[in-house]
Amino acid sequence: MNRPTQSWDVVILGAGAAGMMCAIEAARRGRRTLALDHARAPGEKIRISGGGRCNFTNLNAAPHAYLSENPRFCVSALRRFTARDFVARVNRRGIPWHEKKLGQLFCDRSARDIVAMLTDDMREAGAELRLGAQVGDARAVEGGFVLQVDGQELRARRLVLACGGKSIPKMGATDFALRLARRFGLRVTPTRPGLVPLTFDAAALARTAPLSGVSVEAEAACGKTAFREALLFTHRGLSGPAILQISSYWREGDALRIDLAPGAELFDALRQARAQGGRRSAAAVLAEHMPRRLARFVAEGAGLAEAPLAALPDRSLRALAEAVHAWRVKPVGSEGWRTAEVMLGGVDTRDLDSRTMEARAVPGLHVIGEAADVTGWLGGYNFQWAWSSGWAAGQAV
Ligand code: FDA
Repeated sequence: MNRPTQSWDVVILGAGAAGMMCAIEAARRGRRTLALDHARAPGEKIRISGGGRCNFTNLNAAPHAYLSENPRFCVSALRRFTARDFVARVNRRGIPWHEKKLGQLFCDRSARDIVAMLTDDMREAGAELRLGAQVGDARAVEGGFVLQVDGQELRARRLVLACGGKSIPKMGATDFALRLARRFGLRVTPTRPGLVPLTFDAAALARTAPLSGVSVEAEAACGKTAFREALLFTHRGLSGPAILQISSYWREGDALRIDLAPGAELFDALRQARAQGGRRSAAAVLAEHMPRRLARFVAEGAGLAEAPLAALPDRSLRALAEAVHAWRVKPVGSEGWRTAEVMLGGVDTRDLDSRTMEARAVPGLHVIGEAADVTGWLGGYNFQWAWSSGWAAGQAV
C-alpha cells in the first residue's frame, strides 16, 4: 500500500552539528523543517568530542585556520556567524565553559550540554527530528526534491546535505553526502583522513619503540607549515596535537622536520656544560630540555650516549643539537579513517555559493559542514565551520 507523500519546506540529511544548526535557523524562519539521521541519537560526534567535553569553538576562527582547494570560500559564513555568536547561545542556556588554551573553548561539564542545547533549540523552533531513518534515493523534480525514506516518499522544496565526513565509520560516518552530491552533478575533491596520527615502517618503529608513551612539547613542520604543541610517541608512530595538526598538511612521501626542544639553544647549552668541566654526558644535558628517555634516544642515535662532554668536539655537539632541533622523519602513512578526527576534501566549494551554501547548478540543494571541502585545524575550528555553514544555509533555505 502506498503511503501518502509528506511535504516539507526543508529536509536536512544528517542531524550532526551542521544539520542541527541549519534546522534551528530554518524552523525559526517559519520553514517546515525535517532533519533525518540514520543514527539512534543526534550529534554523536559532538557527544564524544573533546574527550567528552566538546571543544565547541575557537575564538580565533578565521580563514587562515581552514584547508580547502578554495580557501576564500569559508570567509562569508565565518564572518556572518562567528565564534562569539555561538558563545552567546551557550551563555543564554547557562552552559558553563572555559578556555583551555589558544582560544579553544570547552564545556565545563559535558559535551551533552551542547547536544541538549541544539535539540532543545530545534524543538522550540518547531523543527522535526527523525532518527534511525534509512534514506534511499533522492532526485530533483519540478520545484524541489523527492526522497525515499524508510520506504516512504518525501517531498522537499529544499534539500540540505549535512551527512558529515568519512572519519570514524564505526560511529556511522558515511560518504553519503559525497555520493548524493555526485549524483546531482557536483564535483567532489579528493578526500583523505585529517587530524590523524601518523605511522612508521617496521624499521623506524623498532628504533622508536622504547619511546612509546613519551610526550614532549615540539614543533612539527611539513613544507612551510609548522605547529608547536605536544607530540606523543606511540607504538604505531607519532600522535599528539602537533602531529594531528601537521597530518592535515602531510602527503605520502613527505618528510616531517621536528624540533624536539623548540626555544632551547642546545648547541650553546652543550658547549656551556663542556666548558664547566665536561664530566657530564650529552644525554644528561639534553635531559634538562626534554624527557630523559628521549634525551637518551637522541644521544644514542648520535653514538654519544656515554662519552663525557669534554671528549666531544664542536662538530659533534652541533650534530647533536641538530638531531634534536631538526629531526627528520618520514611517516609511511596515517592511522586512517578509523581514528581521523576529520575528512579533508569533500564537495567542491567552487560549485557552491559561499553565502547560502547552495549548489550553483542545482537550485534548492545545499551542502554544509564537513561534507563540503572546508577542514579546520584542531581546536574547535571544525565545529565553528559546522555552526557557521549551517547557520548560513539556514538563512537561505
Ligand atoms: P557530523 O559528523 O557531526 O554529522 C553528520 C550526521 O550525518 C551524523 O549524525 C551521521 O549519523 C549522519 N549521517 C551520515 N551518513 C548518513 C546517512 N547515510 N543517512 C542519514 N544520516 C547520515 N571538532 C571540533 O571543532 N572540536 C572538537 O573537540 C572535535 N572533536 C572531535 C573528536 C572526534 C573523535 C571526532 C571524530 C571529531 C571531532 N571533531 C571536533 C570534528 C567534528 O566532530 C566534525 O567536524 C563535525 O561534527 C562536523 O559536523 P557535521 O554536522 O558536518 O557532521
